[in-house]
Amino acid sequence: MKFTKILTYIGFIGTAYAGCQNGLSSCGEACYSPNLYSCDNGVLCPYGMRNCNGACFNPNEYHCENGSLLPGATKVPEYVPPETGNCQGGMRSCNGTCYDPNLYSCDNGQLCPAGMKNCNGACYSPNEYHCEAGRLVYGAESGSNNGGNNGGNNGSNNGGGNSQIPPSSGNDTKNYEGFKLVFSDEFDGNSLDRSKWEPEVNCWGGGNAEKQCYVDHPETIFVQDGKLHLKAIYKGAYQLNGNDRCTLNNENSCSWTQPFVSGRINTKAANLAWKYGKVRVKALLPSGPFLWPAIWMLPQDDVYGTWAASGEIDIMEARGQDPDIISQCIHYGGQWPNNIYSDKLTTVSNAQNNWHVYGIDWTADSLIFSIDDNPTYTINLNRSFYSGKGDNPYSGNRQPFDQRFHLLLNLAVGGGFFDSNKYGAFDPAGHSRQWSRPELIVDYVRVYQKN
Ligand SMILES: *[C@@H]1O[C@H](CO)[C@@H](O)[C@H](O)[C@H]1NC(C)=O
Ligand SMILES: *[C@@H]1O[C@H](CO)[C@@H](O)[C@H](O)[C@H]1NC(C)=O
Ligand SMILES: *[C@@H]1O[C@H](CO)[C@@H](O)[C@H](O)[C@H]1NC(C)=O
Ligand SMILES: *[C@@H]1O[C@H](CO)[C@@H](O)[C@H](O)[C@H]1NC(C)=O
Ligand SMILES: *[C@@H]1O[C@H](CO)[C@@H](O)[C@H](O)[C@H]1NC(C)=O
Repeated sequence: MKFTKILTYIGFIGTAYAGCQNGLSSCGEACYSPNLYSCDNGVLCPYGMRNCNGACFNPNEYHCENGSLLPGATKVPEYVPPETGNCQGGMRSCNGTCYDPNLYSCDNGQLCPAGMKNCNGACYSPNEYHCEAGRLVYGAESGSNNGGNNGGNNGSNNGGGNSQIPPSSGNDTKNYEGFKLVFSDEFDGNSLDRSKWEPEVNCWGGGNAEKQCYVDHPETIFVQDGKLHLKAIYKGAYQLNGNDRCTLNNENSCSWTQPFVSGRINTKAANLAWKYGKVRVKALLPSGPFLWPAIWMLPQDDVYGTWAASGEIDIMEARGQDPDIISQCIHYGGQWPNNIYSDKLTTVSNAQNNWHVYGIDWTADSLIFSIDDNPTYTINLNRSFYSGKGDNPYSGNRQPFDQRFHLLLNLAVGGGFFDSNKYGAFDPAGHSRQWSRPELIVDYVRVYQKN
């Protein structure tokens, strides 16, 4: 899921820090690559680490109290909306927040980029959308004088209802001899089972300059007719608000604005993670350019170090433009940027219109990716996974694929996975109009282990 060699942060921070070259951020007086380092209170630390009185620490293991490091993970700070107060020098007040009217509009107490309006918390361009019963609907507002592109187009860019979803038929077994089911979600209820899954809430872009805020909203993450839906929705410009509890503030991204919202859930928080076994996920992939669905796994504990030293297993990734091509991949080798990956592309029959079962069979000695129970890619684990760059985080063969991994499901939009030489530049408003079903739909997730 992470392809850090192609990261660009220029769009987000390039203009904010004059004095540092494109792609670099400033930390005190130093310029740094945000792919390599994190800046915490003016101190540079290895990526993902925090500063405690000058010492860098892993926030998954420690917290900083009164300038001292203490064992126990750091609590995620909640995103605090901007301060309110009296406005000066040409600024105006929007429900108590001061803003520059050249940059923002205030609609119903909510700030939006200038010229945009607010629909139940989402900012939108009235030349392209209107707000109907609190929901964004594609099609210009009546009376909106954009002079042309609103005639006739009565469609929704957010895909239609269940009539477009082919039935999840197929001959997939639930039982494997010698194995027992140790986890399953069949998505049979009416809501996400939060004892299994935690929605992630952040606008960071996954470290790949993706264009979504992941939010825990009923329109981005929902369970309907026996299926989980993770849905991407164009919002024009979205910022987390007081109802969104930001769970990841890398680069202070809790306050970033992104053109899309979407859904991402994990089993990490519920401590549902497994070492070895079979994983099977039956899914229908989203259709539309620059949609990037992923079914993947990350280490539950970073015992060999931060990403990607402790590994990553990508069971399924795909690009909306390539409806037949599935990528299956592992990342390993060392901490960024000393990591490497191995992957294989497999052609399937249109994964956007046909349900497929994406899986792995993982033992101490091998990791075998599969689609519809047919092996697609076999990795021998009885070898060293050291990349040869930087410090060797491993002391033996099979590491890091000898630890517990948890599951993640998400639908990303745009970002570094879409090489602009091949796919061209991403135009969020324009391309999202071409989406016919921007949803990763999952029929089930099952994990089996040996009896
Ligand atoms: C940190 O400081 C606060 C306030 O002075 C105090 O209540 C707390 O016990 C201190 N924590 C530690 C670990 O010393
Ligand atoms: C205005 O701010 C108050 C206090 O923060 C909040 O409760 C209210 O929902 C806001 N109104 C709008 C329309 O956003
Ligand atoms: C557009 O949609 C509305 C409401 O669904 C419908 O009443 C109207 O006939 C549609 N117009 C066109 C041109 O399809
Ligand atoms: C379904 O799978 C089972 C076990 O692999 C096989 O015996 C059976 O013939 C299959 N049925 C169909 C309709 O493909
Ligand atoms: C693992 O690889 C080593 C050589 O690197 C070999 O001696 C050993 O027999 C292998 N173990 C298995 C279970 O294949």
